[in-house]
Amino acid sequence: MTVKKAVIPAAGLGTRFLPVTKSMPKEMLPIIDKPVIHYVVEEAVDSGIDDILLITGRGKRAIEDYFDDAPELMMHLERHGKCQQLDALREISRFSGIHFVRQREPKGLGDAVLCAEKHCKDEPFAVLLGDDIMKDRTPCTKQLIDIFDKTGSSVLAIQEVPTEQLHRYGIVKGNESGENLLLLEDIIEKPSPAEAPSHFGSIGRYVFTPALFSCLKRTTKGAGGEIQLTDAIRLLMKQEDVYAYIYQGKRFDTGDKLGYIETIIDYAREDNAMKKDLNLFLRKVMRQ
Ligand code: G1P
Repeated sequence: MTVKKAVIPAAGLGTRFLPVTKSMPKEMLPIIDKPVIHYVVEEAVDSGIDDILLITGRGKRAIEDYFDDAPELMMHLERHGKCQQLDALREISRFSGIHFVRQREPKGLGDAVLCAEKHCKDEPFAVLLGDDIMKDRTPCTKQLIDIFDKTGSSVLAIQEVPTEQLHRYGIVKGNESGENLLLLEDIIEKPSPAEAPSHFGSIGRYVFTPALFSCLKRTTKGAGGEIQLTDAIRLLMKQEDVYAYIYQGKRFDTGDKLGYIETIIDYAREDNAMKKDLNLFLRKVMRQ
């Protein structure tokens, strides 16, 4: 059975971006003219997934509106011959098959993923965190699905992170088990540099067997007093094989202010309409 479902947790409070996230979901922060969540959903769809469950919470209604149809707006654009804008709206319509469920209390990422149990039942599923944008020829989630199809086991994407950032990630330890593949031996959520078992951090893309749900139910509060997905993976790893895949593509952490700015600059530099002027501006700024 291959992976046909994805879960996108988007219930976090976005405290790193306050005050703007007081009245706006962090997942709706724009990367020029599309919100971050657009790219995350697009990655799932481009990975062959046709059933996406978004875990939201209070104050996240703008996400539902974004993926809804907008007939009045479309009619207005049609009447005024605004074809380019119409195409941009039609592109969103290809993301059909999106469902929403609310996490009632912000009890942590693990608790948010557990909200997907009824939806996923006994099927394998992908998890894509709503803050991270991945860029590669083959979508990161598709690469994980290919590994799942070969091994039948859960797998998470990892990348090397600098020492001063270890405390922000789930850090893994594993045994080489193929090209860019490790068999997971340990995973620790947000360790200090002394506790970290390596420099490989999990980067917000996962494929899980449904056995994860029973592990989530047994998971107690961990780092930050929250139910951590990482702690459930630690339990899962004890009952079945879990792999960690060293992802070679680009990753942008839009949940971090600097990462957010880097993402915008990267996307703007690929935009034909603005890259020339932007490069000139950047060169000028660098000289100052
Ligand atoms: C979450 C996960 C962590 C993972 C990180 C990737 O942390 O808990 O294991 O390494 O995403 O971005 P958060 O960024 O929500 O604190």
